[in-house]
Amino acid sequence: MEIKTTLLPESQRKCSTIKDAESLPFGKLRSDHMLLIDYAKGVWKDARIVPYGSLSIMPGAVALHYGQSIFEGAKAFMHEDGELYAFRLEENAKRLNVSANQLCMPEIPVDVQVEGMMKLLDVERKWCPMQPESSLYVRPFMIGTEDALGMAPSSTYTFCVLLSPSGAYYSGGFKHAVRLLVTERYHRAVSGGTGSAKCCGNYGQAFQAARFSKKYDASQVLYLDASNQYIEEVGSMNHFHITKDKTVVIPEFTDSILRSITSLSVMELLPSLGYKVRQERVKITEFLDGIRSGEIIEAGGFGTAAVVTPVSEYIFENGDILTVGDGGIGENTRKIYEAYTAIQTGKAADKLGWLQKVPHFQYDLAR
Ligand code: PLP
Ligand code: COI
Repeated sequence: MEIKTTLLPESQRKCSTIKDAESLPFGKLRSDHMLLIDYAKGVWKDARIVPYGSLSIMPGAVALHYGQSIFEGAKAFMHEDGELYAFRLEENAKRLNVSANQLCMPEIPVDVQVEGMMKLLDVERKWCPMQPESSLYVRPFMIGTEDALGMAPSSTYTFCVLLSPSGAYYSGGFKHAVRLLVTERYHRAVSGGTGSAKCCGNYGQAFQAARFSKKYDASQVLYLDASNQYIEEVGSMNHFHITKDKTVVIPEFTDSILRSITSLSVMELLPSLGYKVRQERVKITEFLDGIRSGEIIEAGGFGTAAVVTPVSEYIFENGDILTVGDGGIGENTRKIYEAYTAIQTGKAADKLGWLQKVPHFQYDLAR
């Protein structure tokens, strides 16, 4: 698909001035340009890279009223060779289409999405931060734009990609483990719902659970399934635990859990690091007993933004606290984090073929 490219003159382009790792926020900064593609009458058209700015959307747009809105999250990294590398964009593009199907939205061909993201990344390569734990975060999304209040899927859509030079998702980055609240009060998703889609409604409804968890000085809730028996995931990452025989256990993907690309990638990597991997339904009672008995030695979460985030403590509404291991960052979690991020950042060979170098395109510049 031809992408019309209207770039700001060099003199009007900004560039991040935040150079230290600690103060580079996650998701707040924007690069100079964005990608837009529109859909109408069954066709994706008018692909364009334009200066970052407001979208014009009618107040009656379906996305605003009935939540036909899906998104993705991916990352690109600047390597020491001075080239920009994108991480598994194709997987994000495929998952966007899975979400699209679940929300009765049109698929957008994977090659169109990837080409669009690559071209935008090329234009914005100078925005990729270099400090530790940072990346150029890629946020594709699609919204239903038809101005129609009847409860039906929109007939028109916009696909947009914006970029955000970002630091670690959890403040303090990998140096700090997070605490999770175990509660039966809130659920993220139910079987037959949209839990395995990356749709906005899943996130908006999670704010109240996150707010509640803050009362216990926790970062988030550990969501259980609707029967309160099984661990599902956390609001922005899959959950994992590590047993003392070096098995990494991730809850089996169901239709109420997001199929994390990080989890899938780490699962591919783990055998080479000497770990066994298991995906199964994890009973919350057995998980907590496993921590108490010492059978479970580490726990945490996997996600694009969260990368590999260690969990130090599980908190309960009655005030009880269960500490995992010694409450610090376990050596296995550290080993997995280091091996995974070494590949992303080009410090270790990309044997699994996860990275794609962002080409230097020739532009057909719009005047
Ligand atoms: N689970 C939820 C609910 C998420 O929002 C995310 C983030 O994308 C993840 C898990 C991790 O998925 P991924 O590794 O593909 O980013
Ligand atoms: C991601 O990890 O990319 C996400 O989308 C999670 C989040 C910031 C909502």
